Amino acid sequence: MGGILIVEDDENLGRLLERKLAEKGFRVDRTCSGEEARELIRSRGYDVVLLDIRLKDTDGFEILKEFAGDTLTKFIVITGYGDLRTAVEAMRAGATDFIQKPFSFDILEVSIDRALKEKRLEEENRALRSILLEKDQEVLLETRSPAFREVLETAKKVAGSDINVLIRGETGTGKEVLARYIHRLSPRSEGPFIVVDCSAIPEHLFESEVFGHEKGAYTGATQKKLGLVELADGGTLFLDEIGDVPLHVQSKLLRFVETRRFRRVGGLKEISVDVRIISATNRDLSGMVSRGEFRSDLLFRLNVVEINIPPLRERKEDIPLLVDHFLSRYGKKIRKETLKALTDYPWPGNVRELKNAIERAVLLSRGEYVDENLCLPKDGSLECPEDLFSKMPSLEDLELMYVDYLYRRLGSVSKVAEVLRCSRRTVFRKLKKLRERNGNPEEGPLSGPAPDVD
Ligand SMILES: Nc1ncnc2c1ncn2[C@@H]1O[C@H](COP(=O)(O)OP(=O)(O)OP(=O)(O)O)[C@@H](O)[C@H]1O
Ligand SMILES: [Mg+2]
Repeated sequence: MGGILIVEDDENLGRLLERKLAEKGFRVDRTCSGEEARELIRSRGYDVVLLDIRLKDTDGFEILKEFAGDTLTKFIVITGYGDLRTAVEAMRAGATDFIQKPFSFDILEVSIDRALKEKRLEEENRALRSILLEKDQEVLLETRSPAFREVLETAKKVAGSDINVLIRGETGTGKEVLARYIHRLSPRSEGPFIVVDCSAIPEHLFESEVFGHEKGAYTGATQKKLGLVELADGGTLFLDEIGDVPLHVQSKLLRFVETRRFRRVGGLKEISVDVRIISATNRDLSGMVSRGEFRSDLLFRLNVVEINIPPLRERKEDIPLLVDHFLSRYGKKIRKETLKALTDYPWPGNVRELKNAIERAVLLSRGEYVDENLCLPKDGSLECPEDLFSKMPSLEDLELMYVDYLYRRLGSVSKVAEVLRCSRRTVFRKLKKLRERNGNPEEGPLSGPAPDVD
């Protein structure tokens, strides 16, 4: 609503202020009574309240104390001549300013101006904070690990420039999380962050997905299509799983990385874009180079700065922080002994595996504590525990359990398919079956929430 409320029991003064402020273009309400003032402030939410501290029916201080702390409304207190002590107290109680009677209208105007500016700044800050909170909700950027602290420091340092960054780390360590963090801290943060998941694009479509194609470039290309590099213009291009780029596309990619210029498939025109390139991999690119699977010149261009994210087992200090972070969203708790077990576990699937384990336990737990639903494998290996076999599951059940296990650990259908050396379609089918099973928990040993198919 906004506007100004005058709370003044001197009728003449009140009326005069009302008229003058209205002349200046403010929306003004006026009251003589403290009670009515309370009602109005509650229901209308003013920008500024001019509050006479000595009212007939109320002590102005009571109103000040009641509202000044938890609304964005600014209070300018009007005190009697020479009553400096009251003025100081009023400021302590949260008033923005005070004016002593008698006062000139000019002084009041300056004071109102200042209060309005202050309010606008606070509103802006609040809006910014809420955007940051929203973005930060998912990730924890706090750490007790010196190694991870260094990772974050390096990320901050490189964020300001357009240097190409290569992020390395085991699966689930947070490579994409870090890439987004760098983007967010960079001058390009308002621009797009485009992910090219090099492991998920079929080899024959790679070039047209990444660089786009012209209409009629090949059979089936009925429309012109923009490539991912073009969509990233003005922002950051994240080449995820860079080790999976087919060899024959690597030379085209190299040229693009060097010049930021490319041609759409079937196109003659050179297009130039302004992008920052961050790539990520969990593969040993140097080994791939020596085996002739990855171009050394491309690697040289991509890793101007290399950031290595340590696996979770090498930053155990952060496990309690992460557990707390993932639990606190749901208001659930964990007992000390369980937290100790989680800290000792090697987490081969890293932060992703930890996050999935906690979220699964949260979904399965009815009470406040999640402990009984956090079952960890004895070690990090894929061996099935003896007691599982003793239940004598059918081969099909066993298979579904393994797919479920891999999906929770790896987090993507493509990766599960890679481990199982089967097609993505097969993994989809198994996960679908699993989901149907979970709808009916009586039917077999599988339990827990259905995983999302990405
Ligand atoms: N610091 C963090 N705070 C909160 N969640 C995190 C953090 N780091 C990673 N995660 C979570 O862990 C999961 C894996 O993170 P991310 O996808 O960035 O890993 P990755 O290294 O790219 O994995 P992959 O190699 O499998 O692609 C995500 O769900 C992510 O939200
Ligand atoms: Mg990733």
